Amino acid sequence: MRRRQFVLGGLSAGLGAGALPALARAPAKTTARAAIPFGAAMRVDLLRDDPDYRRAVLEHCQVLVGEGGLKWIDLRPAADRFVFDHPDRLLAFADAHGMQMRGHTLAWYAGMPKWTEAITTKQAAERALYEHIDTVVGRYKGRIPSWDVVNEAISDNPAIDKPMRPSLWQDLLGTQHIDMAFRRTAAVDPKVQLVLNDFGFENPTGQCRAKRTAFLRLVKELKDRGTPLHAIGLQGHLPGEKEIDREGLSRFVSELHGMGLAILVTELDVIDDKLPPDPAIRDEIVASRAQAFLQAIGDVVRPEVVLTWGISDKFTWVPIWFSRKDGLPNRPLPLDANYQPKPLMRVIKAFTSAKA
Ligand code: XIL
Repeated sequence: MRRRQFVLGGLSAGLGAGALPALARAPAKTTARAAIPFGAAMRVDLLRDDPDYRRAVLEHCQVLVGEGGLKWIDLRPAADRFVFDHPDRLLAFADAHGMQMRGHTLAWYAGMPKWTEAITTKQAAERALYEHIDTVVGRYKGRIPSWDVVNEAISDNPAIDKPMRPSLWQDLLGTQHIDMAFRRTAAVDPKVQLVLNDFGFENPTGQCRAKRTAFLRLVKELKDRGTPLHAIGLQGHLPGEKEIDREGLSRFVSELHGMGLAILVTELDVIDDKLPPDPAIRDEIVASRAQAFLQAIGDVVRPEVVLTWGISDKFTWVPIWFSRKDGLPNRPLPLDANYQPKPLMRVIKAFTSAKA
């Protein structure tokens, strides 16, 4: 059997001692493994309008997800109107090129259109949630094989007695909304992979520990109630300035995997607003964070899929919330703004590739 090291060539170049987290060690023994499909979140207009973007996607991706498009704010301009143009186009593109499309997302606290503020009773919330799932999951039945049914349900700094993030759904239906969303999605498309998607589990901070505890408790409760739940989506929006808690993350993944759940990496990028300005140094730190994150998961189980939240630094959500004080552009993604692969792409390729 061929041995393979996950150590990255030149990763520490240009960095002061101690600037990097513990780098991956070569595993003691290796076994054969299959390739993990890689993909990215898409802005569908760019697939049509930007040939370089399209080329990059065709070269690198096997899986696509809409960066928007299936969110309430995009699909539901009015209570009685659904606009499927973007997801339809993305699915057509995926189909035409033999790629899979993931669904993101059915119940989320953010990205809700203004008119939903008129939903103020339990009955109205239940009706709206079910109508939405019936219509959207129903439309793509058999064509979108994996859905982020509920997104970001746990609050940012969960208190023991108040772990859930406020949202229209949580406020009117309670935690039960998660069961309702999962059961309804399963009823509409019994073959769909049902994913609970969330972020903020990977650093050695009290906040991440609290989030892991709250998330595990929620998942156990869902399992105990017999809620259909197949997989956990770890978003992986990694704060670049923070170390990865490899042990804590591995233990967390191991508990989830032990409950029979598959693991997906759904939205990987490295938020680089607090990293040094030099692009080469920044790119190496970005790569090393992702490497530590992926390896902590991979030490327990190979994720079913790895997606980044965008493909090129030219188009990323990061500056919306995390623009740099020095005004330099963010560099969170595997390709730079000219579509050239960065060290992060090497990390992803090394992690996702098959091995004999
Ligand atoms: C973001 C998109 O990237 C933005 O374009 C949009 O305006 C807001 O949402 N976690 C998620 C994603 O689950 O849906 C978010 O996407 C990024 C954080």
